[in-house]
Amino acid sequence: MEIAGKKDVMNRKEIEKRLEKIDLTLPPPETEPERQYYFIRLLQDWAEKKKKELGRPLYANITTFGCQMNARDSEKILGIMQMAGFEETESEEADFLLYNTCTVRENANLKVYGRLGQLKKQKEKNPDMVIALCGCMMQEKEVVEKIGKSYRNVDIIFGTHNIFKLAELLSIKLLDQRAKQKMLIDIWDGTEEIVEDLPNERKYSFKGGVNIMFGCNNFCSYCIVPYVRGRERSREPEDIIAEIKCMVQDGVKEVMLLGQNVNSYGKNLKNPVTFAELLRRAEEIEGLERIRFMTSHPKDLSDELIQVMADSKKICHHMHLPLQSGSSRLLKVMNRRYTKEDYLLLVEKLRKAVPDIALTTDIIVGFPGETEEDFEETLDLVRTVGYDNAFTFLYSKRTGTPAASMEGQVLPEVAKERFDRLLTEVQQISAQKAAKRTGTVHTILVEEVNQQDSSLLTGRGSQNFLVHFPGDKAQVGTFVNVRLEESKGFYYLGKQV
Ligand code: 5AD
Ligand code: SF4
Repeated sequence: MEIAGKKDVMNRKEIEKRLEKIDLTLPPPETEPERQYYFIRLLQDWAEKKKKELGRPLYANITTFGCQMNARDSEKILGIMQMAGFEETESEEADFLLYNTCTVRENANLKVYGRLGQLKKQKEKNPDMVIALCGCMMQEKEVVEKIGKSYRNVDIIFGTHNIFKLAELLSIKLLDQRAKQKMLIDIWDGTEEIVEDLPNERKYSFKGGVNIMFGCNNFCSYCIVPYVRGRERSREPEDIIAEIKCMVQDGVKEVMLLGQNVNSYGKNLKNPVTFAELLRRAEEIEGLERIRFMTSHPKDLSDELIQVMADSKKICHHMHLPLQSGSSRLLKVMNRRYTKEDYLLLVEKLRKAVPDIALTTDIIVGFPGETEEDFEETLDLVRTVGYDNAFTFLYSKRTGTPAASMEGQVLPEVAKERFDRLLTEVQQISAQKAAKRTGTVHTILVEEVNQQDSSLLTGRGSQNFLVHFPGDKAQVGTFVNVRLEESKGFYYLGKQV
């Protein structure tokens, strides 16, 4: 199969062919991804024997916390596990259990500790079960220390930079007698390496996420992401385009380009490429019908990108543009590097270029030093923009970030009261926006049979809204035209036309 770009193995069959060539009598190769192929082969042999011994399949259970980047990482992890001989299960009674963690807010960490406590019984029932933890939370030293002390039944901990090493770590854990009783900790940093061509599974056959970059350089003063995900690294455009082409050949119609700040894509490449240029190249891929991306930082949103969106037939009419605060004073303390006026100008340009664009955002309430006036400015901006949806967060103190030691930490009850006011406002505005769209007809990509009512299908419009409508399950993964009949706030009820 001929795929543009320097890489030619991306799909399962191609990787299987490469695995067959691995010689296990030799020591593991030093280069990636061959080194991981070697360990996958080791695991395959181990799994074959183990399954015979148990007289049943081996099961892997993966729970994902947090953002789309983590969801994509979990797909890669599942790909490796399946290739190694495990089957996915929804049940936590599994042979391999993994939590892919998030640490962006404190309560994400608390959830993981809660779940780990409950796992004790499972491990007693099945002492051979391997419990693994990965993701952003594991990149925090204090977290790993705490787990080492208080959650001894965890077997493997790895970070966000070395997911590709899972097969190697699991091989050591399962095959090396010396590692059996030990907690294997491999948090690894300080490399720019992006390992391509590992197995990966996709949740949907018709849409999927594609990492275009990893890490973040922005250091917003409240945010832990740059510390746990490291510096910005972009994938080569050829690799990205090759991956999308391969997905399209497998039936994918919609891609979501993923990065912490997609607007600064390509700056660190040997031959720098802008995000707008990457989109132009993706647009040309035959058979690809829809392109989405997440997340955009307002400070890097270029006129070139807005123009590409205006010219495009494939880029969806939706932009997630985190605001964080409507007060220019606070934006400065947050190190966001734009003002309220800059933000409003972007919104104006976007709406001029793509009149029916849906805008969504993230807002933090109760940031240190937030006064009632600052908060009123946020409310005011939310009304002025008229978001289709906004994710609102209570500020959460993250150790090691500049904001954690700032003066004027807002009292929890004050923050909560503001949060409730903001949420009410956001809900009202998004309901009004949604109501305006009723009666119109949209092209919908059908995503699944409705979980509550199997006579209904659920799909998404270009503007990212959800709609439920009567249909046949054979339509999942296809485009249909649907009239939005009734707005229910977060979704619509519709009819096919
Ligand atoms: N407290 C609350 N919300 C936060 N976010 C990031 N860090 C914090 C924090 N410390 C929010 C931001 C970001 C979203 C993914 O999470 O709004 O855009
Ligand atoms: Fe965090 Fe800011 Fe980077 Fe987003 S842009 S991940 S909020 S530091």
